[in-house]
Amino acid sequence: MYKIIDGKKVASEIKKEISEEVKKLKIAGKKIPYLVTILVGNNGSSETYVANKLKDCDEVGFRSKLIRFGNDVSEEVLLAKIKELNEDTEVDGFIVQLPLPAHISENKIIEAIDPEKDADGFHPVNIGKMVIGLEGYLPATPYGIVELIKRYRIETSGKNCVVIGRSNIVGRPVSILLSQKGMDATVTVVHSRTKNIKDIISKADIIIAAIGSPSFITADMVKAGAVVIDVGTTRIENPETKSGYKLIGDVDFENVAPKCSYITPVPGGVGPMTRVSLLRNTLMAARKD
Ligand code: GUN
Repeated sequence: MYKIIDGKKVASEIKKEISEEVKKLKIAGKKIPYLVTILVGNNGSSETYVANKLKDCDEVGFRSKLIRFGNDVSEEVLLAKIKELNEDTEVDGFIVQLPLPAHISENKIIEAIDPEKDADGFHPVNIGKMVIGLEGYLPATPYGIVELIKRYRIETSGKNCVVIGRSNIVGRPVSILLSQKGMDATVTVVHSRTKNIKDIISKADIIIAAIGSPSFITADMVKAGAVVIDVGTTRIENPETKSGYKLIGDVDFENVAPKCSYITPVPGGVGPMTRVSLLRNTLMAARKD
């Protein structure tokens, strides 16, 4: 029988730990961690993600603020706001929710963020530190995935791990973290140009699916006893839910789960861990003051 990796439960345990830390900071008369979020436009998924991030901050006792810009905001105005936040000593960390409108260079925006305040861990300095194993801010989703694997004591050493997707914010960084000393997995990254993709996935002990293609991973691709981590969160309209949407993962859960040893659900798997990782990065930023 497979086991569910309950990200919601683990995230709630970590949130409790963070709340305790915040209480201690308050008692000691120290500064309360402060996270600012910039949201451009009104992309539905981004609205939900950001609302959840603000709620999380509230729950653990962090200070938080949302700064909104319209879809037509210029790159220049956004860069000026980033400069202001970089210089604001009250602000411990800030993030710019992605994706951004096509007329704005995401790379330019990310590079403008002070690496010391880069709570998302997207700045090239933090990515570089991660690559060579130095302490820095880790990208939230990969950080959350590694934490889930550790808390469930899933063996990674010498295991065949296949990461599906090579995005800068999930696939590529998680492949680096899993191959590092301490995790010691043998990692293969597959993507849209990979040949014999099914063949490669079917040899994996650990599958990390991060492509945003609903139910892409089917039971025939999964080895018996594999660990499956589903990062996909495609929003599908569903009038039966309160929000009017349903989140669909990259894994055909119903048919894949019976073949697995461990599997993450969507929602309630990786998503809550991404959110909690942002809180951890913000706490780390506040401690550096
Ligand atoms: N868009 C999707 N995931 C993320 C994330 O972790 N951080 C930001 N800033 N944007 C995202």
